[in-house]
Amino acid sequence: MAESSFKSSFSLRTLFIFVVFYISNIVAVNGKSQTFGRVLNPIKLGLKQEKLSHFRVYWHDIVSGPNPTSIRVAGAPSTNKSKTGFGAIVMIDDPLTEGTELSSKLMGRAQGFYASAGVNEVAALMNMNFAFMVGKYNGSTISIMGRNKVLTEVREMSIVGGSGLFRFARGYVQARTKKLDYKTGDATVEYNIYVFHY
Ligand SMILES: *[C@@H]1O[C@H](CO)[C@@H](O)[C@H](O)[C@H]1NC(C)=O
Ligand SMILES: *[C@@H]1O[C@H](CO)[C@@H](O)[C@H](O)[C@H]1NC(C)=O
Repeated sequence: MAESSFKSSFSLRTLFIFVVFYISNIVAVNGKSQTFGRVLNPIKLGLKQEKLSHFRVYWHDIVSGPNPTSIRVAGAPSTNKSKTGFGAIVMIDDPLTEGTELSSKLMGRAQGFYASAGVNEVAALMNMNFAFMVGKYNGSTISIMGRNKVLTEVREMSIVGGSGLFRFARGYVQARTKKLDYKTGDATVEYNIYVFHY
């Protein structure tokens, strides 16, 4: 009884020494002090008050013409036979404008891809970055990933993060198709963005 408790306290002590030795090795590699992880004060990182912003842009998926911004890059052998185009992957660099017209002010671009993810219904997986190009937002991005049931009136997708002025972003977008040319496949979609950021 006494011997086994001695043994366990001995091994605990050995473990403790080992851990201390291990940590001091992490801190001083090659004699240089290195910090792998530490707790930061958000204020010092410039993160003051989290705020909720709303933006509205129009997303133009240009499939036709000499300069498409939306191109199919992959599909399965069965994709063309599928009534929902299941398996197709489309790469996009779509303009985001201030108004419904493509000729209106360019606010940024939606870069990423969407994939036909529904076997029995038209449902896309959207995975794109809204890269803004105007004013103080120039260079900042919002990353969107979500399910787009294209034929429904309002589709909601998640904002999973961001960069620049949108660091630590979270929120959602709502997409509403404004124009759809069934002949060419070109589409204009209104995106309302609701985002918490600093
Ligand atoms: C499917 O259709 C696309 C055009 O819509 C074509 O580029 C592609 O080659 C077709 N794929 C197969 C496997 O037939
Ligand atoms: C946005 O930033 C890029 C690169 O930093 C710069 O070339 C461009 O002129 C900027 N656009 C606006 C509208 O400020």
